[in-house]
Amino acid sequence: MNFTPLILFASLLLPLYASAEEHQNSNANGGDTIVFTTLGRSRYEFDVFALSTTRPPSISGEIRITDGESVNFNGYFPSPSPALISLLPDATLIQPGDSSPLHLIYVTERNGTSSIYYDLLHGGDPDSKSKRRSMLEAPSRVQIPLLTNADHRSGNTVNSFKDKPSLSGEFLVYVSTHENSGEPRTSWTAVYSTELRTGLTRRLTPSGIADFSPALSPSGNWTAVASYGERGWTGEVEELSTDIYVFSTRNGTRRVKVVEHGGWPCWVDESTLYFHRRSDDGWVSVFRAILPQSGSLSTESVNIQRVTPPGVHAFTPATSPNNHNFIAVATRRPGSDYRHVELFDLRRSEFTELTRLVAPGSHHLNPFLSPDRSRVGYHSCRGQANGRRSPLLFLENIQTTTSDLSLFRIDGSFPSFSPAGDRIAYVRMPGVYVVKPDGSGRREVYDGMAFSTAWDPVRPGRVYTSSGPTFATERTEVDIISIDVDAVDKSSSVRRLTTNGKNNAFPWPSPDGKLIVFRSGRSGHKNLYLMDAEKGETGGLWKLTEGAWTDTMCSWSPDGEWIAFASDRESPGSGSYELFLIHPNGTGLRKLIQSGTGGRTNHPIFSPDSKSIVFTSDYAGISAEPISNPHHYQPYGDIFTVKLDGSNLRRLTHNSYEDGTPAWAPRFINPSDVVLRKKNDSSCAFEDCHWLNKNPPLKGQKISC
Ligand SMILES: *[C@@H]1O[C@H](CO)[C@@H](O)[C@H](O)[C@H]1NC(C)=O
Ligand SMILES: *[C@@H]1O[C@H](CO)[C@@H](O)[C@H](O)[C@H]1NC(C)=O
Ligand SMILES: *[C@@H]1O[C@H](CO)[C@@H](O)[C@H](O)[C@H]1NC(C)=O
Ligand SMILES: *[C@@H]1O[C@H](CO)[C@@H](O)[C@H](O)[C@H]1NC(C)=O
Ligand SMILES: *[C@@H]1O[C@H](CO)[C@@H](O)[C@H](O)[C@H]1NC(C)=O
Repeated sequence: MNFTPLILFASLLLPLYASAEEHQNSNANGGDTIVFTTLGRSRYEFDVFALSTTRPPSISGEIRITDGESVNFNGYFPSPSPALISLLPDATLIQPGDSSPLHLIYVTERNGTSSIYYDLLHGGDPDSKSKRRSMLEAPSRVQIPLLTNADHRSGNTVNSFKDKPSLSGEFLVYVSTHENSGEPRTSWTAVYSTELRTGLTRRLTPSGIADFSPALSPSGNWTAVASYGERGWTGEVEELSTDIYVFSTRNGTRRVKVVEHGGWPCWVDESTLYFHRRSDDGWVSVFRAILPQSGSLSTESVNIQRVTPPGVHAFTPATSPNNHNFIAVATRRPGSDYRHVELFDLRRSEFTELTRLVAPGSHHLNPFLSPDRSRVGYHSCRGQANGRRSPLLFLENIQTTTSDLSLFRIDGSFPSFSPAGDRIAYVRMPGVYVVKPDGSGRREVYDGMAFSTAWDPVRPGRVYTSSGPTFATERTEVDIISIDVDAVDKSSSVRRLTTNGKNNAFPWPSPDGKLIVFRSGRSGHKNLYLMDAEKGETGGLWKLTEGAWTDTMCSWSPDGEWIAFASDRESPGSGSYELFLIHPNGTGLRKLIQSGTGGRTNHPIFSPDSKSIVFTSDYAGISAEPISNPHHYQPYGDIFTVKLDGSNLRRLTHNSYEDGTPAWAPRFINPSDVVLRKKNDSSCAFEDCHWLNKNPPLKGQKISC
């Protein structure tokens, strides 16, 4: 599902995290609870795996390196430096000649936010006596968190997205979003290095710039990144038109642009880089850049050659030091829905398939090679075949930095709470469901296509929704319906409140239960209307807003004073949405928040005290190259709150996924996971980037997510 347009005042450098005093409790009983949706994420079940690069790929040759907890991805095989080894407990014996210990640095989403971990495994080599496929039984795992949100040493005491780790001797190099860029619709992602022994952290990316996908040269002296430089992100959600920059890993100096248009760099030696870009013929391909050995470094002095041929999308290249024989890539072959890891022989220009021969029906992402080039790592869904199922989390607790806010990712979209907070309605296309916050009593209450949910504040068990397709034109029939979720006779539980055959959606009742605000395309434009909550439009219909633009996603404040909505009225049809407030009597219209020029701010929902709004937005830009993730229509979506006067903007989520459709609970839910049930066949059911499905477009033809 696609959450249309989604933000804020420009140039106000507002603190993102409220201090204890600023953060007023909305609920008398302990604090605030916000629930939101992330497209696809509850099905990921990623672990990091490895295959040999020298033996034919086989199921028994695949090693699962990470432990099957949470979601683990974007691995890196470090050369174990003295600083890294010094972190291990004294009892950990590393025999100098023993080739079997596997060292892995990776990202894990334990507690719902990203942390960087280091695992050491003995007996990981399938050639060794144990022949264990899964490392789970192996007692010899040592696991060391390198960087978590609770890491006071590094100053990382706020939630942040942390990704793409690598190691240069004493220094962990990675990206993080813990510093506000200060500009709306501008990415917070920047490269940092943290000294392992001391935790001393240094920002390597200049302020005001966002860098993605860092990679270290074999000596560690140089870091290459994908970056827009001063230009900034302009809303791209497919392949990014970033450039490649190189700088000194020590302190970020000597920063030079070396390649126009490229992403996901990696080094073979101190002057040879590989990277991906969509080439003129439409195929995403791997290219090589040879930097001059001497003289001045600039885009002019760099020699660029295409490496992978047309006919297959090849991307996220991985190299090993001084290995000019082969690279590893992820591919999408024509006609395949799956992303696989392959080797590419640089001399013969030939692919060697790996993961398709092991698990043809799973996605395999973001390969990386061991320093001795004998192993290729990647992440993939652990699945049932790997003997380890994780519970499906109905509510995944996302650790926050304040004890008076609990934050959950819900497995479903458009959640809303009953007035007492004892039930949640949500949507899974198709169908509307009702469940208790502890995950029990889950029932389908409507089996058709529907979107958005809101509970009637006075009539017990009544839920309003929009029945019909999402993202349809003004003239497509979508109707506001009410569902009596406790009806014994399901055949009479649904009442249709609009019947005009036009696109009516996003119903939200007034706090006295008398009226419903919704948006309708009945005039040819989507504007806001009010109607009688009992009889529907036949009982009274009033126009609240009017204009040749789209007003949508409306919600009513619990104190009855305001209706919040998203609108593209400042730039109709542009896809740019801002949040507005209007009194139910049509007065007091004002803009609440905007995310820069062309930005998106959507799905505003009031706090129980009516003083704040939670919403989703591209205010913090994009956090990773979208091609390094499964499909997200709007990979920039993050969840924010703001007060009604526009102050106290806070970013609640930090990830590279599409977060949307938030709800603010009327009562506090303790911050711990709620398991819905054991995962079954629907796990691992997520899609690779839709835009890689297609063969390249004809010249000039635009393809979109
Ligand atoms: C997860 O939360 C628990 C309990 O707060 C904490 O002990 C643990 O360190 C956290 N893990 C990470 C990776 O942040
Ligand atoms: C990396 O930097 C160090 C310190 O400046 C230097 O001694 C070394 O020669 C450099 N290595 C390479 C391969 O450039
Ligand atoms: C950055 O590091 C280099 C050595 O690698 C040093 O010569 C230079 O003075 C440093 N610059 C700053 C601004 O710290
Ligand atoms: C409209 O509603 C607002 C908020 O309730 C109120 O302050 C204002 O006086 C009303 N205006 C009119 C013209 O009724
Ligand atoms: C799990 O899937 C199997 C086969 O697909 C099915 O028979 C079984 O009923 C499912 N179990 C649950 C709890 O949904």
